Amino acid sequence: MSYNTFGRLFRFTTWGESHGPALGATVDGVPPMLDLTEADIQVFLDKRKPGQNKYTTQRREPDAVKILSGVFEGKTTGTPVQLMIENTDQRSKDYGDIAKTFRPGHADYTYMAKYGIRDYRGGGRSSARETAARVAAGAVARKVLGDGVTIRAAMVQMGRSKIDYDRFDWDEVNNNPFFCPDAEMAAQWANELEAIRKAGSSIGAVIEVVAEGVPAGWGAPIYSKLDADLATALMSINAAKAVEIGAGFEAACLTGEENADEMVPGKDGKPEFLSNKAGGILGGISTGQPIVARFAVKPTSSILTPRKSVNLDGEATDVMTKGRHDPCVGIRAVPIAEAMMAVVLADHMMLHRAQCG
Ligand SMILES: Cc1cc2nc3c(=O)[nH]c(=O)nc-3n(C[C@H](O)[C@H](O)[C@H](O)COP(=O)(O)O)c2cc1C
Repeated sequence: MSYNTFGRLFRFTTWGESHGPALGATVDGVPPMLDLTEADIQVFLDKRKPGQNKYTTQRREPDAVKILSGVFEGKTTGTPVQLMIENTDQRSKDYGDIAKTFRPGHADYTYMAKYGIRDYRGGGRSSARETAARVAAGAVARKVLGDGVTIRAAMVQMGRSKIDYDRFDWDEVNNNPFFCPDAEMAAQWANELEAIRKAGSSIGAVIEVVAEGVPAGWGAPIYSKLDADLATALMSINAAKAVEIGAGFEAACLTGEENADEMVPGKDGKPEFLSNKAGGILGGISTGQPIVARFAVKPTSSILTPRKSVNLDGEATDVMTKGRHDPCVGIRAVPIAEAMMAVVLADHMMLHRAQCG
């Protein structure tokens, strides 16, 4: 079982390695007659692509997507949508000296333990290059969801520096290089991350992703809860170490009174919720409130300070990772989080229709 495929009715398979000629996604189950162009997908890839400022890896990739199948005269045909992104800025020699060494914090050791062979160039398949393919699939998922569903993400914590939720402003997110919704905190992060970057070090982060406009009723009650599928999707992002929905870990600190999302009669006979500790999901099914998830990413493992490791022969060695790296992977994880929210929701939208009409 190789598990490169995600989803049931809206389903995609990604393929490709960091330093191979190309990577991409085969998206199956896309309904016919949806308007879809390369430009619709490119806008999201441009948000994720590397080398856009000094706070992300200096690898320069245009991440230009090509639609190879499944679209005719600007409309989806119901057949598999094949998306391809060529790699253009591979520098495999950057990684030559780690071919026989397992980098701490990377998947080098585990890929070798599992497969007995690994493409060590830039982390091969375990590299976050793969996430370009998911972002492309996520753009198709947004088309399936339509304009009624809005999905946005932001970085809300870097290291120990958290945003002030009283200053949370979605309009601010695209005004700074961190996708930060708090202008004051963005200015602080600029100083903090510059120092970390210059020291050749790295730092972790928390990303929040919110979907609005999801009607009540999407999801499933037991083995494919919407929150469980969302957690799987976000946890599948490279470097993710924790996921929470709604109040998340904070719920453990609350009383029943504080945590209850009280309801009062609302419009059109639907209830109005007075809070959203549940993160828009009850019993695995959407409530109609915004769906709110957060996840933590660990600090980038590739740092300049030598770290102890072992080589292929089991001998002790030190690893100091040269090459180009993101000092905080949380920044570029923001558009990836949006994509994973989109693919989960598109799948559940189609599953809901299949069962409930
Ligand atoms: C957008 C993004 C960019 C990343 N860039 C780097 C990087 O430049 N250097 C690095 O060491 N890890 C980077 N990572 C993390 C590694 O891909 C990841 O830690 C590694 O493959 C091991 O997998 P795991 O941390 O999920 O267990 C990045 C992750 C994301 C989400």
